[in-house]
Amino acid sequence: MAPRFLQCFLLVLVVFLDDFSVSLHASQDPPLKLDYYESTCPSVLEIVRKEMECAVLSDPRNAALILRLHFHDCFVQGCDGSVLLDDTYTLKGEKKASINDHALKGFNIIDRIKNKLESECPGTVSCADILTVAARDATILVGGPYWDVPLGRKDSKTAGYELATSNLPGANEGLLSMISKFLYQGLSVTDLVALSGAHTIGMARCVNFRDRIYGDYETTSGMSPVSDSNLNNLRTICPATGGEDNKESAMDSVTPNLFDNSFYHLLLKGQGLLNSDQELYSSIWGIETKKLVQKYAENPVAFFEQFSESMVKMGNITNDQSFVDGEVRKNCRFVNT
Ligand code: HEM
Ligand SMILES: *[C@@H]1O[C@H](CO)[C@@H](O)[C@H](O)[C@H]1NC(C)=O
Repeated sequence: MAPRFLQCFLLVLVVFLDDFSVSLHASQDPPLKLDYYESTCPSVLEIVRKEMECAVLSDPRNAALILRLHFHDCFVQGCDGSVLLDDTYTLKGEKKASINDHALKGFNIIDRIKNKLESECPGTVSCADILTVAARDATILVGGPYWDVPLGRKDSKTAGYELATSNLPGANEGLLSMISKFLYQGLSVTDLVALSGAHTIGMARCVNFRDRIYGDYETTSGMSPVSDSNLNNLRTICPATGGEDNKESAMDSVTPNLFDNSFYHLLLKGQGLLNSDQELYSSIWGIETKKLVQKYAENPVAFFEQFSESMVKMGNITNDQSFVDGEVRKNCRFVNT
């Protein structure tokens, strides 16, 4: 949580400069290129796509797992594959950080893609790039938009256990704190609202929505018969007390496996599953974000266009250190020896 004075400062920025965002990384960015692997691994996109097709066909949830992994990679030291590293004697990975623990899956899908690529073009394609392309393909495969993915990231030799806790927003994060975490990454309020639309797919665990369904869900949803029955369902899945922390519910209960804009319709109805999601529409600070939620609810094309642009921007968060001494890992779980 950012100190209050910082939050107020940021609010002023947000209100007056709208899409202003702090470019922490942009100025030193070594440019990524669309055709980075054109001569060294021309089949890279085809290989990733084929593996992702199998994964998402066998279970659409896999699309959500990969999309979230990419987000959690990029917000910690930039998109450098750091989230993929396993714990070893000499390296403390990010997987056990409280925000990630029991909450990240899909690593085996990345392993499978990496194996294919190592046999096709050994030592060439970084795990960070694999994850970025896989997240794009995941989105398309559940009905979302296409975008071109700039490539050429390097994999880190370190992980950011503490950074995972400080940089990543949690389920009960307030709006101003979310905004400040996005600004810190060079992402704007618009990026925040558009990227949150990723919650149109995937599941959340009871431990992450309990405060919401025993908190202000009733108030924001206005107690219509439909929202009442939705709330009762959620409370059955997730009792106020007891050991059901890992029971899951879809964040978009209407079309849980489809990448569409119905997430924003849920927010308009006050039925967002996470406190953090409903904040975008219902927070007293959310003048700008509320307008954006309305816009994306009304206009699916505007949502798809902004989501694509914001995903490229998030994928552009680079780890300057990894360009200096980064590598192409042979195994995404371990630094090369
Ligand atoms: C804006 C701040 C955000 C917050 C506070 C947030 C929080 C969360 C939480 C609490 C969950 C449920 C995790 C669990 O219960 O295990 C979740 C799931 C998910 N998040 Fe976010 N998230 C945010 C932004 C994003 C972004 C930017 C993306 C990707 C572009 C994303 C993609 C996902 C996906 C796909 C899932 C479902 C994963 C699954 O099915 O296992 N989220 N998020
Ligand atoms: C992302 O980076 C690429 C190459 O470095 C650049 O051409 C592009 O404009 C950037 N896109 C965004 C949305 O920041």
